[in-house]
Parts: sequence; structure tokens; C-alpha cells
Amino acid sequence: MKRVRHKYTIRCRCLGSILCFIVGCSILIIKFNWYDTQRSICLPKNPDDEIIDRQDEWQYQNSITGQWYNWRTAYKRQNNQTEWPVNWLNAAPKSHLGVIVYLATLGDIKSLQTSLTQLSRMLSNNPRPVVIFHEDDLSNSEIHQSLAQILGNSTPLAFEHIKFSNSSIQPGRLHRRWSSKYFHMCRFFTLMLPNHPLLTLFSYYWRLDTHSYIFGGQPIEDPFEIMQKRKIQYAFVMANRDNEAYTLGLWSFFHQFLKEHCLVPSRNFRKTQPGWIDSYSTAIFFTNLAIANVSLFRDHPLIRAWLHKADRNGGIYRYRWGDAPLHTLILTQLIPRNQILRLRYFGYMHRNEYVCARGIKDDLCKAQIKTVFPDPNLIFYNHPDGCNPSFGNPLCHYYPEITL
Ligand SMILES: *[C@@H]1O[C@H](CO)[C@@H](O)[C@H](O)[C@H]1NC(C)=O
Ligand SMILES: *[C@@H]1O[C@H](CO)[C@@H](O)[C@H](O)[C@H]1NC(C)=O
Ligand SMILES: *[C@@H]1O[C@H](CO)[C@@H](O)[C@H](O)[C@H]1NC(C)=O
Repeated sequence: MKRVRHKYTIRCRCLGSILCFIVGCSILIIKFNWYDTQRSICLPKNPDDEIIDRQDEWQYQNSITGQWYNWRTAYKRQNNQTEWPVNWLNAAPKSHLGVIVYLATLGDIKSLQTSLTQLSRMLSNNPRPVVIFHEDDLSNSEIHQSLAQILGNSTPLAFEHIKFSNSSIQPGRLHRRWSSKYFHMCRFFTLMLPNHPLLTLFSYYWRLDTHSYIFGGQPIEDPFEIMQKRKIQYAFVMANRDNEAYTLGLWSFFHQFLKEHCLVPSRNFRKTQPGWIDSYSTAIFFTNLAIANVSLFRDHPLIRAWLHKADRNGGIYRYRWGDAPLHTLILTQLIPRNQILRLRYFGYMHRNEYVCARGIKDDLCKAQIKTVFPDPNLIFYNHPDGCNPSFGNPLCHYYPEITL
């Protein structure tokens, strides 16, 4: 009797285990299939659905005809389109490979003069056209002539008159300390500039701030040619971190965008954008000096979709989302690692923070800065490897670098 019951229990346990195994397997199979179906039923949104080709309230004026146009945020080249006429001072561009662009106001004129002086020194072997976008206050022809003189006879210079509109400035603004101009600037560099008709004349644009100064011992190799030779889409010099107060909601908003387009975070994104436990590191390209393929922010379907979505969200005005995080998130997600380049072969200063060309001795670099800013009372901050913070900025050495 005892023996029989024992046998019976063993058989029971055996059956139980087999049953468990079968149930477990089924659950796993169902789960994996479910994930698969989930993946296969993810229907990506059409990127072009993000784009509403409306006439924006912002305007630009042609420098020759004087005609004003409403800004188009979805640029489409038409076959019958005539080229955008430009009133070039000094000389007409010999090459249309690249253009250097500023957004300036009269209040910045002193630093703009220094910035242009440095351009004329450092690019004297290969002068590139310079275009200064402005609202009203740089329309004076004496100012035009004096800035043209700084650049010298062989550097083409043009002024593009634009008009921002205040209607996107809503009462919900979080950071009231900043003037409305600052928010317009963020929107200008995020979305509007690449859709200005002047840029259709060129292959690359190089953005500088009025407080951006390149420096070094002698004229540098032309960055546009380097980029063309290496098939680079985007180049930068310094990496930074944004203030968390200016990226509110941006991390989840970007992930929502990825989900809508059935994208998972790319390897380059995962290596450079998350911080601790999948939070946002806020690591950014310091976009006050950046060179981009003109087509990148204008024609790439997903990049364009992202910029339009961000623009419609209103976060630029509500939270002060800058062009730096908006561009960095999407570039790290979509652009291959070998198509982004860090330029370390010349010195660069933004306001009072600087980085020397890589490989140059410290005192030589300081002597170069003295030639730009002779005043001994000015204080400058050196970022030895061009990154802030120096340790723990995941963007710092991720992309290929070009050095002296
Ligand atoms: C070019 O063609 C489009 C569409 O056919 C038309 O609407 C536009 O007026 C034309 N532009 C010029 C400058 O002829
Ligand atoms: C926008 O607002 C600023 C400051 O409030 C003002 O100076 C400017 O004239 C306004 N611009 C337009 C186009 O209304
Ligand atoms: C810029 O990007 C476009 C689109 O990807 C590409 O066709 C073009 O060749 C690029 N321009 C340069 C100068 O590499």
C-alpha cells in the first residue's frame, strides 16, 4: 500500500513538472510572438505628416528688390524658381561651397567686429562669403561699409533683413528674465535659417555667434573643404551641457517622437545622450560654432519632421528649448558616427570660454589670445579638452576629431 502511494506521488510530480514546463513554454512563446506582433504592428507615422507648409508670420526681405516674403518653413525647390539675388559687398562669391552666417544686433557690434577680424585673419588663404542676418538695426550703409572693410576686398559680405513676429510669444513663458529676442534666436537657428532662400545657394553653412572668435598662429585649412572631402554632414568644436531648467519635458517629448516613427534609440544616441538610469544627460554640441550640410535640417525627412514637431509644441518659447539640444538629440539618433566631426585644429572662444587647438602649448595659446584681446584685465576660462564638464560629458570624445 505504502509503495503504491509512493509511486503515485512520483508520477504526480512528474506530470506536474511536465505541465509546468509546457505552461512556461507557452507563456514564453506567446510573449515573444506578442512582442513580434507588437513590433510588426508598429506603423510609423509618415514624417511628412508633421510638416504643415503654412506661411509663417516671420518675414524676410530681398536685399536687391526690397520685396518682403513670408517665411516658408518647408522649403521645396521649384523648377521655375529663380536664384535668390544677393547684394554682395566687396566681391561676389567665387565658390558656393560654404557660407558663414551670423544673427546680429547693433548692440553686438563691437564683438561682431572682433569676430569678423578673426575670420579675415584665419581664413585669409581661402576667404568665404559672410552673411549677417538682422532685424532693423543693421540697415545703415555706413555700418555695412565699415564691416566690409574689416573683412577686406576678397571676402564677400551681405546683409539679410528679416522680421520676427511676436505672436508665438505666449503668456505661458517660464523664463521671463530672457528677452523675446533670445527665444526668436533659438527658433531661428533650430528651424528657420535652413529654410531661408539664401542658403539654397550654398552646400554648407557655418554658424557663428557675434561672441564667437576663432584664433591661432596662422591661417587655417578650409573647414568646408575638409567636410566635403570626408563626406561630413555636421561639425562642431566644443561640447557642453545644457541647464536642466531649459530642457523641461524635452526628453520624454523626444522619446514620444521616436515611438511615433517606430524608432528605437540608436547606438550613438545611447552612448551620448542618456545620463544615470536613463535620465537625460543634457549633453549638447556647443552650437554657437557649428557647420552643417545645408540640406541636413531642411530636407532629411525625419530631421525635418522632428524640428517641425518641436516648433509646433511651443517648447522653444515656453521652456526655452534651444537649438543645441534640439539638434543634438536628432543628430546623435540619426547621423552615422563617421559623418560628424569635431574640429580641433584651431582655437575657439565663445564669450570668455575657450579651447586651444589640440596639441598646442598652453603659453603659445595664451599669446594668441593676447593678439585678439590685448586688455590684461579680461579674464578667460580655458577648457583644456573643449568640454564642459571635462569629465563625464559623454559627447566629449565620442566623434572623430581632426587636430593640427
Ligand atoms: C512657378 O510654378 C508654380 C507652379 O506651377 C507657380 O505657382 C509659380 O507662380 C511659378 N513661379 C514663377 C516665378 O514663375
Ligand atoms: C515684438 O515685441 C518687442 C518687445 O516687446 C517689440 O520691441 C517689437 O516691436 C515687437 N515686434 C513686432 C513685430 O510686433
Ligand atoms: C548634403 O546632404 C545631401 C542629402 O543627404 C546630399 O545629397 C549632399 O551630397 C550633401 N552635400 C555635401 C556637400 O556633402
